[in-house]
Amino acid sequence: MTTYDQSFSGVIFNLDGVLVDTSVYHYAAWRRLANELGFDINQQEHETLRGLSRMASLEKILEWGNVYLTEAEKLHMSDVKNNWYKQLLVSVTPDHVLAGVVPFLTELKGAGFKIGLSSASKSARMVLNSTHLTSFFDVIIDGHSTRKSKPDPECFLMASRELGLLPTRCVVFEDSHLGVQAGLFGDFTVIGVGSSDYLTNAHAVIPNFENLSIKNMLGILADTPVISS
Ligand code: BG6
Repeated sequence: MTTYDQSFSGVIFNLDGVLVDTSVYHYAAWRRLANELGFDINQQEHETLRGLSRMASLEKILEWGNVYLTEAEKLHMSDVKNNWYKQLLVSVTPDHVLAGVVPFLTELKGAGFKIGLSSASKSARMVLNSTHLTSFFDVIIDGHSTRKSKPDPECFLMASRELGLLPTRCVVFEDSHLGVQAGLFGDFTVIGVGSSDYLTNAHAVIPNFENLSIKNMLGILADTPVISS
């Protein structure tokens, strides 16, 4: 086993859009709901919902459509969306895991890194099971465990605490601007997954996990200036 002489010993991943491409299903289910309510949403609008809780997402969508609902109606609508989303998730298989993810997780595990998952989704465990990723994780924090939506750092802080590590010893991988902010607010080192056009605050940005190794993750971070939130 290679030993890495450096300060990181934990890695915490967001799920949707980082490890598995589920955002297309969230989009389809939200769009169907908006259509039922008499308006439409586009992909660009949906991108801004990445990382938000289900209720926070619904509230944004209702705002876009100028639709007012009571609290009880909102709860009902978020359940309706979730049922549609879950029907779509039935087709998720290990083929939906994004490129490079499994080799990178395998390398981290083999090298003795502690691995956490922090997701706002209440379906996170279902997605991990369908994609056969569950056994990689020492800790799983999902939408059932957290109370605060990103950019609050709660979900990452819970994961690092359960891993027994200080935030400064963990690298967070995030695909959303809100998630990057949450990691920075929690004092984590954050690598954005996607485009540096919108992940502007991350310590570093990678387009995806293809060909990512521990060595080049540490190399990218070593070249990075210190950023504060
Ligand atoms: C996040 C997604 O991971 O989970 C959001 O980025 C989603 O799009 C949120 O709304 C909550 O997911 P769920 O499955 O609990 O509705």
